[in-house]
Amino acid sequence: MATTAPTGSPLSQPSLTHPPPPRKVTTVKALSESPGLSSIPSIYTFPKQTYHEPVSDTKEPIPTIDFSLLTSSHPGQRSKTIRELGKACRNWGFFMVTNHGVPERMMKAIIEVCREFFELPEEEKRGIGGKHVLDPIRFGTSFNESVDEILCWRDYVKIFQHPEFHSPKKPPSFREIALEYSKRVRLVAREIIRGISESLGLEKDYIDETLNLENGLQLIAANLYPPCPRPELAMGLPPHSDHGLLTLLIQNQIGGLQVQHKGKWVNIDPIPNSFLANIGDHIEILSNGKYKSVLHRAVVNNRDERISIAVPHGPALDAIVSPASKLVENVGNPPAYGAMKYKEYLELQQGTMLNGKSCLERIRNGD
Ligand code: OGA
Ligand code: NI
Repeated sequence: MATTAPTGSPLSQPSLTHPPPPRKVTTVKALSESPGLSSIPSIYTFPKQTYHEPVSDTKEPIPTIDFSLLTSSHPGQRSKTIRELGKACRNWGFFMVTNHGVPERMMKAIIEVCREFFELPEEEKRGIGGKHVLDPIRFGTSFNESVDEILCWRDYVKIFQHPEFHSPKKPPSFREIALEYSKRVRLVAREIIRGISESLGLEKDYIDETLNLENGLQLIAANLYPPCPRPELAMGLPPHSDHGLLTLLIQNQIGGLQVQHKGKWVNIDPIPNSFLANIGDHIEILSNGKYKSVLHRAVVNNRDERISIAVPHGPALDAIVSPASKLVENVGNPPAYGAMKYKEYLELQQGTMLNGKSCLERIRNGD
């Protein structure tokens, strides 16, 4: 709380030696609730050509993986599903996951409790967690508000769930709901990663063991996209790929996610009660580029508040990720990416404005 010093006291003199205060950015929620807001500040305006290409009118549906068949004891069914999973990773990098066994009430509960979190008073939200990518709880706006030249129309909270579980203190039910949800989602993600491993011709547990997924990083990244008076100028999240191995996303049934497929943006409308899965940069590295992480973005609208809960699953923070030796040697391919500690990759990505796959490009080996 700022106190006002009495006039004339030395404390009222501005100090010349202090560095300028960090840029103070309001949350998009607070901004969107300003009375009579009919335009947006120019710092939220993205250059038109780069970010607002037309959306594809493809009727090609995004692939769906029936999770119950992936875990089926019937070997034929399982191997067929693994082939489908491989194809989905090769052709799209994105797929829907149905019959995953996570109860619908848990999916609804986590969305609701995150909504309640965003409703907390601004000072309370600002007061929690840290600012660094490795801080276990981080609340903020845009992607990295201290370096972003253009701000994204989103607020977020990111909370480490594994290997150490963290939770904000408020709302009081957050802890229990998040603990249950992330445990269940983690089981699904690990099983899909086993399937991906097999689909690459690796041992089922290759990724799990090599990247120490027993201690793998899992977080809840909750995104809030308030209604925007000029949605055609703003971006919820600009085009990017996710770090980590596999992200499982749900949303409050309001669309906004677009995925790049065959050079065009495709609107994704998830089926209720399903997860939207996408592979991250570390599957691209591990598979030596056989599976590519895919660019996606979130657009905003002028009517409805959108909430999405992304749960990224990555290697252990200390794991060093490099292309799987079997994939490199067998094909006679040189490794296309340099080895890097997952933790260092996270720091690299967070240090710059979110910009396509520029982070992955930095560790790609030259020809
Ligand atoms: C993300 C992300 C998309 C969405 O959080 O990385 O891509 O639809 N979110 O919110
Ligand atoms: Ni993403």
